[in-house]
Amino acid sequence: MKHIKNTISLSVLLLMFATFVQAQAWEIPDGEKSKTNPLELNAANSEKGFEVYQKNCKSCHGDVGAANFMPLVPPPTDLGSAAFKTANTDGEIFYKMTTGKGAMPSFKAVLSDDERWAVIAYLRAGDKTDATVDKNAKLSIVANPDDKSISASITTKDATGKEVKLVGADIEISIKRIFGNLTIGKGKTNATGAFSVNLPEDLPGDSLGKATIIVVAKRFKQEEKIEIDWATPSKHHDLTAQASIWGTSANAPWWIMLLYIGIAGSVWVVIIYIVLQILKIARLAKKNV
Ligand code: HEC
Repeated sequence: MKHIKNTISLSVLLLMFATFVQAQAWEIPDGEKSKTNPLELNAANSEKGFEVYQKNCKSCHGDVGAANFMPLVPPPTDLGSAAFKTANTDGEIFYKMTTGKGAMPSFKAVLSDDERWAVIAYLRAGDKTDATVDKNAKLSIVANPDDKSISASITTKDATGKEVKLVGADIEISIKRIFGNLTIGKGKTNATGAFSVNLPEDLPGDSLGKATIIVVAKRFKQEEKIEIDWATPSKHHDLTAQASIWGTSANAPWWIMLLYIGIAGSVWVVIIYIVLQILKIARLAKKNV
């Protein structure tokens, strides 16, 4: 008993000690604090940072600005909160990511310097625009019937107000079907700022070859639709005119009919047999009285 008590109090002490060690403040060397982000604060870098954040930080820190981080002790901060961003210089955030502390892993060996600075560019971008969405971003679609291709691009404005195409932006292209949208292509805009897919040859539209193409750039909260009339026209079958669940018995294969009549017939034979046997019991009972 005493042994158990000792073990328990020792564990409690150890736990308190561990919490105390973790709860220590970050110690940032002076030279680190004053470091500034070598990357330009632009849409491309913030886009890259967003991707790194989604893969490496979101699991603990939650969505930026949403304060839905994991309930750890000490808690991971909402890295999008104004309180965190005003309290930390770029150099401090970089140092914290690089070294880690307690449950916060060190990303020194996991992410390159550029990737870590890109996360900071992403976090800082939120100061300029709502929820880090580039308000100048504009999605456009070109449908080309000649090679049956759909091409999408995203433009934004640079610091001087000039229109530029975004490279490496995520695009998803889908076609509207009866039960939702079917993705036909997913990827990033290339060096010329475009992402395109060819409509699969066997992808049918309606009976006139019409179809609705939907292009989504989730990161920029943009969605555009375009109607095309050069999808492969689909032949609509009359569902009762063939052997199918909705078909009539006239179209059923002979062996299904035979099987059905056989099963239904034998069930009736058994029922009639049972009724006859019951009648026989009644008859025998009368005879023996
Ligand atoms: C396994 C969970 C986990 C992951 C993954 C994680 N963190 Fe953390 N982070 C924490 C915890 C827990 C703390 C609090 C640590 C402490 O104060 O002892 C923290 C603290 C921080 C801090 C300091 C916050 C402050 O208030 O000073 C920064 C900056 C930070 N993390 C950035 C990141 C970045 C950027 C990533 C992704 C590259 C990341 N973290 C990934 C758990 C995590």
